[in-house]
Amino acid sequence: MTFKRFPDDFLFGAATSSFQIEGSTHADGRGPSIWDTFCAEPGRIKDATDGRVACEHYTRMPQDVALMASLGLQAYRFSVAWPRVLPEGRGRIEPRGLDFYERLVDALLARGIQPWCTLYHWDLPDVLEQRGGWPARETCDAFVEYADVVTRRLGDRVKHWITHNEPWCISMLGYMTGEQAPGKRDWGLALRAAHHVLLSHGQAVPVIRANSAGAKVGIVVNLCPAEPASPSAADADATRAFDGWFNRWYLDPVHGRGYPQDVIEDYARKGHIPAPSLDFVRPGDLETMGVQTDFLGINYYSRAVIRSEAVPEHENAPPTVVADGPRTDMGWEVAPAALTRLLRDLHTTYGPQALYITENGCAYPTSPDADGRVRDVERVAYFASHLDACHDAVSAGVPLKGYFAWSLMDNFEWAWGYEKRFGLVWVDYETQTRILKDSAHLYRQVISARGLDA
Ligand code: FCB
Repeated sequence: MTFKRFPDDFLFGAATSSFQIEGSTHADGRGPSIWDTFCAEPGRIKDATDGRVACEHYTRMPQDVALMASLGLQAYRFSVAWPRVLPEGRGRIEPRGLDFYERLVDALLARGIQPWCTLYHWDLPDVLEQRGGWPARETCDAFVEYADVVTRRLGDRVKHWITHNEPWCISMLGYMTGEQAPGKRDWGLALRAAHHVLLSHGQAVPVIRANSAGAKVGIVVNLCPAEPASPSAADADATRAFDGWFNRWYLDPVHGRGYPQDVIEDYARKGHIPAPSLDFVRPGDLETMGVQTDFLGINYYSRAVIRSEAVPEHENAPPTVVADGPRTDMGWEVAPAALTRLLRDLHTTYGPQALYITENGCAYPTSPDADGRVRDVERVAYFASHLDACHDAVSAGVPLKGYFAWSLMDNFEWAWGYEKRFGLVWVDYETQTRILKDSAHLYRQVISARGLDA
């Protein structure tokens, strides 16, 4: 074992998102989001729950910020709920919604915690979905208006902005597999949604910069590095296709390269699009999407080992053939070495100015023991191995500048409801008690020592 120290400017944080923690979905003039609607549809959420109460963060925010300070967090990544700020999607601003985020930002700054604000983490105002949602180009205009409103109010204090969280999930899970809100199942809609999410990112970046002097702006993608299960040509091609669908379809356009031609051809061959061309791309769109940003945020949970005949074992799970490796409660393989490889590949292939791990973590059900302590040994091991993997990437010269654990606390895990617990902090949903798990103690130690034994 050696002590692995991170550079002095490496940032340690934790992440959450509005719908997953806030609750108070009817408070202070908030309008309905697509997730309120989706949760109300029978059979959509595994445990038939919703976001009405969640972690009561909307009312417990000051205590939660104190909790972050007790962990020594240097940064906190949160998202703004669009329907709190613009309940009708556009037009009328709800000042009480903006006031909440202003109080949050001020509370963070008072504790010396950097606010990292995600504008869109999936809670689209429902009224915009009624008008076509992300597959409709008008939603780009609505997003830019929303980004303008939020950054005008908070841009003097928030200096790190993320336009979108996980375009792949928004488009593919929202509009193709239907596992997430709004629950549609149509390839044409999904590819249009992806296009408008990426386009609105490109359109919003200059607006954010104009409202927030000196701000760093980026986008967050969820990436799943793919490896072939065998040296066969069929597995190699399946790996190429998976990587194209999951990773490159988003990475290439935001780095100014347009959509990958091989994937366009795959989609045409499979009948997902009528011809090997994309009729929703208008002149100038690809340039707009390729706007220069300050960092790329990566959400990393697992890798995929690809067989040409791969069938995912769980919905939303990467296909894999590693049957006996350790798995989290989501069924996702624990694969820290693939994270180092991913970071190195991104650095050489796309060369973003800075990289951040904007989410990394694992679900395990470990509950408090009789003495009240949460001995989440698997999560401790997961964080230690992935922080070690990040350190390896930094040592190899990758400009990885920070790490955000997912998540600060157990929360509403989308279609899984409250069954899956990703938190560093245990939440007792009956009493809203928060208990620092052993993994939280480990993380606090890593942050204060600025490294770990590995
Ligand atoms: C990511 C989401 C985040 C959380 C984790 C487990 O896809 O961004 O909100 O649900 O997965």
